[in-house]
Amino acid sequence: MTVATQDASPPTTWIQIAQSSDLDGPRPVVPVSAMGQALVLFRDEEGELGLIGRHCPHRGADLCFGRHENNGLRCPFHGWHFDRNGKCTEQPAEPADSTMYQTIKLPSYPVSEQDGAIFAWFGEGAAPALTAAPATA
Ligand code: FES
Repeated sequence: MTVATQDASPPTTWIQIAQSSDLDGPRPVVPVSAMGQALVLFRDEEGELGLIGRHCPHRGADLCFGRHENNGLRCPFHGWHFDRNGKCTEQPAEPADSTMYQTIKLPSYPVSEQDGAIFAWFGEGAAPALTAAPATA
């Protein structure tokens, strides 16, 4: 789904980025283009939503093609794993005692679901509660 293009100022409302039904099926992972960014939206095994950068910070592989596992996405190229907050949680080819993965994080945005729609917060500061029907792109 492609939504609002990047504007000069950050939005002050939640923005609809998908329908809940977009994540139906055995592989709940979809690409999202929003605010001028390539992102990937997914629902993890706990039912929580993640909206993170689409391209792996290692060599740029497309995480939309990643393995959906362990409450996150595993890069299809070298196996780095990212959780719903964009944090790298594993780097399989690094030495066992390496902590480099702790310094790696993809962009991520708060997401919320209401009435069959999924919204993202791209504004500044902490996301307010999603209580009323926000703007649609
Ligand atoms: S490109 Fe993603 S782990 Fe290498």
